Amino acid sequence: MRSFLKAVAAVLVIAIAGALIYVYGYLPRQRPAPDFRVDVTPEVLAHGEYLVKHVLLCNDCHSERDWTLYSGPAKPPLGAGRPCMDENTKAVGINFGMGGFPGRLCIRNITPDVESGIGGWTDGEIARAIREGVSRDGQALFPIMPWFMYAGMSDEDVGAVIAYLRSQPPVKSFRPDRQLDFPLNIIFRLYPKPLDGPVASIPRGDTVAYGQYLTRIARCEFCHTARVRGQLEPVPDRLFSGGVPFVMGTRTQYSKNLTPHETGMGGWTKDVFLARFRAHTEPFPVTEEENSEMDWVAFSGMTDGDLGAIWDFLQTLPPLETKLLDRAD
Ligand code: HEC
Ligand code: HEC
Repeated sequence: MRSFLKAVAAVLVIAIAGALIYVYGYLPRQRPAPDFRVDVTPEVLAHGEYLVKHVLLCNDCHSERDWTLYSGPAKPPLGAGRPCMDENTKAVGINFGMGGFPGRLCIRNITPDVESGIGGWTDGEIARAIREGVSRDGQALFPIMPWFMYAGMSDEDVGAVIAYLRSQPPVKSFRPDRQLDFPLNIIFRLYPKPLDGPVASIPRGDTVAYGQYLTRIARCEFCHTARVRGQLEPVPDRLFSGGVPFVMGTRTQYSKNLTPHETGMGGWTKDVFLARFRAHTEPFPVTEEENSEMDWVAFSGMTDGDLGAIWDFLQTLPPLETKLLDRAD
């Protein structure tokens, strides 16, 4: 019996040691930063500015936000990072059903400052962080950074984003290191997934395919689809059916069902859809409860072509009835 227990203990020790070696030695899965170089032209810069300000909204997370104004516009200095989240952070936005944040997570500076921002990174390192979830030092990026939504972003678009970020004024702004509690500190290393080659652009003439692409990189899909807690992929048979809860002050707000069901976009037309996006092009004062987690003001700058493509894609979805979720699971 004793020797049996000893054998079991030995197997356990080996299994745990093996798991630790795997997690710390081999995760996150990654490739060396790709040899990715951006040719900067005025068109590329303008395209990058459009994507960052009106589609990808990088600064909504990488800056502080002003929740006294409608849709919580990002506050200058844009891209310089924001105060860390920890166990005392009051939830604004998606309700992960876990109270405060388990540990400390600081959204860092993505201005081109060399010491505290991304000024010293190569284009390949920035592209890998955005699409593959691996930081410059090979660490996994916690998936509040939506690299898994950006994974399909074309080389053309990610290149334009990098060119634009580099053209911005550098701001010195250091953020403390991340500290995640167990078991998050292990789990988050499992997620990153390297790309295996170049990512082609989607032809804009194919509005349905291009619209689908936009709903991923603009994170419409993320906020408007149920997810099982801890999983990055949406629940496939609930795609775009909304009902995801967001905390706004004392109120819980649910994202809209974007499928053509009568509880969703059923009564809407393309014109109504476009007009909703043009309704608020400037922020205005609101109470927290009247505010929206969706940055309508930033999205109002999307082109008719891009919003129209999103509409065309949403119209191809199977109609699903809205189910309000208790939490983000
Ligand atoms: C929904 C919020 C959110 C959005 C939107 C977002 N980020 Fe992030 N980003 C994060 C968080 C959170 C981290 C920190 C992750 C960590 O430390 O594990 C991060 C980290 C990064 C890093 C790594 C910084 C470092 O010093 O390691 C880069 C680079 C970055 N983001 C660029 C971008 C760009 C470019 C965009 C827009 C295309 C963007 N992010 C959009 C939340 C966001
Ligand atoms: C950060 C999360 C988030 C993102 C990103 C987001 N939404 Fe929303 N959306 C919401 C929430 C929450 C609501 C409900 C509150 C409101 O109407 O403002 C909403 C409401 C809507 C509505 C209904 C508005 C109305 O008047 O009833 C539409 C249409 C919509 N979103 C479309 C989109 C599209 C298209 C995108 C991508 C371009 C998108 N959303 C991105 C969270 C989000």
